[in-house]
Amino acid sequence: MERTCFNEELTLADCGKEVVLLGWVANKRNLGGLVFIDLRDSSGIVQLIAEDPTILPEIKSEYVVQAFGTVRKKDVPNPNLKTGQIEVALKKLVVINKAELTPFIIADKSDALEETRLQYRYLDLRRPVLLNNLKTRAKITKIWHEYFDAHHFLEVETPILNLSSPEGARDYLVPSRIHHGCFYALPQSPQLWKQLLMVGGVERYYQVAKCFRDEDLRADRQPEFTQLDEEVSFMTQDEILTLNEGFLQRIFKEIAGVDIQLPLRRMPFYEALDRYGSDKPDTRYGLLIEDLYDVMKDLPFDGFQGQNYIRGIVVPGVAASASRKVIDEFVNEARKMRLKGLIALKYLNGELEGSFTKFMDEDAKKALIARLDLKEGDLLLFGSSTSRRIISFALGAVRTMWAKRLGLIKPNTYDLLWVVDFPMFDKEEDEQGNVTYSAEHHPFTRPRDEDLHLLDEKPEDMLAYAYDIVINGYEAGGGTLRIYDHDTQWKVFRLLGLSEEDVAKKFGWFADAFRYGAPPHGGMAYGLERLTMILCGTDNIRDVIAFPKNLQASDPTSKAPQPVTKDQLEPLNIYLGEEE
Ligand code: AMO
Repeated sequence: MERTCFNEELTLADCGKEVVLLGWVANKRNLGGLVFIDLRDSSGIVQLIAEDPTILPEIKSEYVVQAFGTVRKKDVPNPNLKTGQIEVALKKLVVINKAELTPFIIADKSDALEETRLQYRYLDLRRPVLLNNLKTRAKITKIWHEYFDAHHFLEVETPILNLSSPEGARDYLVPSRIHHGCFYALPQSPQLWKQLLMVGGVERYYQVAKCFRDEDLRADRQPEFTQLDEEVSFMTQDEILTLNEGFLQRIFKEIAGVDIQLPLRRMPFYEALDRYGSDKPDTRYGLLIEDLYDVMKDLPFDGFQGQNYIRGIVVPGVAASASRKVIDEFVNEARKMRLKGLIALKYLNGELEGSFTKFMDEDAKKALIARLDLKEGDLLLFGSSTSRRIISFALGAVRTMWAKRLGLIKPNTYDLLWVVDFPMFDKEEDEQGNVTYSAEHHPFTRPRDEDLHLLDEKPEDMLAYAYDIVINGYEAGGGTLRIYDHDTQWKVFRLLGLSEEDVAKKFGWFADAFRYGAPPHGGMAYGLERLTMILCGTDNIRDVIAFPKNLQASDPTSKAPQPVTKDQLEPLNIYLGEEE
């Protein structure tokens, strides 16, 4: 079809040129005999002007049109449009297709319900803001390809129909027609395949990989998402982090115009947990968690009996304004995170205030004020627990909630860091004293060399070669070095309570490969949606996916999933019970 350029290619340099444009009518205004039309195409919007309205056919919003005209300088530039310096004086406008009245107005700022927008996603996608998100997403994958290709990575596709493995999230299952009663699982990630590629001598693999996890959804989680996945042989953890920092630096520079200073900060997991109350700390603001055990453990307060941790956070300047109701919101947040309670103390007029002061004599008060260097107007919220994780995550949630409430998070700022030195195992002890260990990451994660001796003595103290890239409080990606020797792998399996029979059944096909000369290897995967969300400044994962699922894991556009017919199920040997 005849077209001279895309809308947003037009600049002042084109003034005087005859152009033919294609697109949709975004808006039409009639002002004193002049008709202004905003023409939208995939690049953006340009203003058309008809000085003689009689040349115009009947047009309405979202009609598809072809515009013929001359570019000219606009008397009053429109700063809101990239093409705002120019306009196109219309000579002819041809209607290519009509459009019915759309269910919602198509504009960047839409007050339509999200469910309606998702139902008519093809209309929603016409909103430039959404299309721009998809462009950012595509730019990230383009840079990903350029960068890793230049570092000799080979793109390899891995299977979608896989063996189900009981680890991790719930699998999406696909019935087999040929093998009655048998199921494939959709990949939760290409983890095992990419390791086999390393055994296979590929050395450097990468892939834009579709992943599927049947888990509870959140604002940053989808059942079907995409990983920028990579695996490499013969690199140390530091080399992998440095390689990836180069990629991150490029996307932030080329997409956000921001210079990321390298190397990125590397924060041990326990520092993130203890000070920020999170394994994905947002370090753009303070409100750090303070350890109060020493100054409070001997207070005559029954609640501290038998507790291993007493910790709190100080929120500056809010003591006078924080009502009981406000404080209760934070107490409830902490309770949601399994902390029994949260106690408030205010530092006002040079005195500690709050019912808890009855457990404190003057010395105890002085010690606390000095320990926290309390200032006029400070509010202290603290609690106690036997569990380091429970107290930390609860205070971490309280910290985030205060930061949002006080507007401490500056928009358009980027905060990148690696969280490293994750524990290898999580130890659980039941009431009968039975101890079980589970893998913090997956059972193929490699323990740090210096911790290997702890495998027999104190596995809970072992740290792993594991790293997460955290950006603005999001886990944007993560990975590990993998175990490559058979002995260590078997020790880990045994610690996790897996018998030879279990291993043979679950991943014998995989573990066997390590008998035949596996290279040292490791890798990581980014959540493409999370990277895109961060770079687009949205906290809704659906904003960066063309056709996302809603929170019920349904597709509002096609209405999947739906029942299928008996005829479809019969060859699969699947018979559904009658509905009650
Ligand atoms: P992990 O499970 O940490 O690691 O996933 C890697 C990254 O994928 C993103 N992510 C998600 N994004 C959207 N919706 C989801 N449901 C979802 N789940 C995960 C996160 C996360 O950091 N195979 C390993 C990586 C490796 O070790 O190489 C893996 O899958 O951003």
